[in-house]
Amino acid sequence: MKKLPLLGGLTPARFLRDFWHKKPLLIRQAIPDFSAPITRDELFGLARRDDVESRLITHGASGWNMRHGPMDKLPALKQKAWTLLVQGVNLHDARADALLRQFRFVPDARLDDLMISYASDGGGVGPHFDSYDVFLLQAHGQRRWRVSAQDDLRLQEDVPLKILSHFEVDEEFVLEPGDMLYLPPHYAHDGVAIGECMTYSIGFRAPAYQELGESFLDFMLDTIDLPGRYADPDLKPATRPAELPAGMVARMRDELNKIRFTDDDITIFLGQHLSEPKPSVFFDPPAQPLSFARFFQAARKRGLRLHRKTQVLYRGANVFINGESFHVGRADKTILARLADMRAVDGEALSGASEDLLEALHQWHETGWLELI
Ligand code: SIN
Ligand code: CO
Repeated sequence: MKKLPLLGGLTPARFLRDFWHKKPLLIRQAIPDFSAPITRDELFGLARRDDVESRLITHGASGWNMRHGPMDKLPALKQKAWTLLVQGVNLHDARADALLRQFRFVPDARLDDLMISYASDGGGVGPHFDSYDVFLLQAHGQRRWRVSAQDDLRLQEDVPLKILSHFEVDEEFVLEPGDMLYLPPHYAHDGVAIGECMTYSIGFRAPAYQELGESFLDFMLDTIDLPGRYADPDLKPATRPAELPAGMVARMRDELNKIRFTDDDITIFLGQHLSEPKPSVFFDPPAQPLSFARFFQAARKRGLRLHRKTQVLYRGANVFINGESFHVGRADKTILARLADMRAVDGEALSGASEDLLEALHQWHETGWLELI
């Protein structure tokens, strides 16, 4: 793979080997001459919407305060030390989506979202750590980042956000627009705005095993198959009627031990789980729905692209789109894998598609999951 200016001239392989999960990396001019594509007012507009997750953080004499959006009112611009955080901007803005997708040297299954923060002078979210890797791209104005490799990750009690009890600064950097700081999970950091500033956080997903396990058991509910019913042809008279019979426990253990899951079950579970849109995500059907024939004609001519909110993953003969799974033949798989990797296919590529796939594509167009180019 090529050396990327985005990674300070490192190849993704070198970056992943030497820095990913290991140590911070400051990249001056990761995006040269970067000018924030989303204005402050556009960001404030997103924070007013109820399908956009946002938080307002203030810090003053009364300590730290946090309020969840939608934000009908924000503090005055000249008020010091407040921060607005807007999550998932990539879902609502094509430029933010394009920026996030520059990080696809990490698989889609691990990429989360683009969060944008706006801070007035002195604003920040306090010294803390995150449980995920993060790239902090300075988009507008300046921010002073102070970081620490400390092991002491104890948090202050009774504050509405995660603030470290002790923060011992190892290094500090002032970031200008286009500069970017990579931080591994659990690396202590504190960013404070110098004048008003905007910072873009490229975030990753690292599901907690407990949460994954609970969802997996839910998935297995539809999958387990245990025929038969308990029987005890050798039953002996009960001397202690309330006691659970040992033979019954053993028999049940043998039956429940028949619950098995294969790599295929795990693949299907993971594909569905990780391609499931977040609860706040809604798709808009096209303004003009097309009949199957019209859709097919237009798709063959113009090609198709995935809507930026659509998540597609695949493995083997299984393709997952927005939480649904499909078992597909080889030709359809080639088309869908291309659509997933490139996020678009030209009309030519659809020539080998089966009738089933064309019908599915038509349906996905109807629900707003994909668009004609
Ligand atoms: C911010 O942009 O203010 C917060 C980002 C972070 O510290 O993770
Ligand atoms: Co952070």
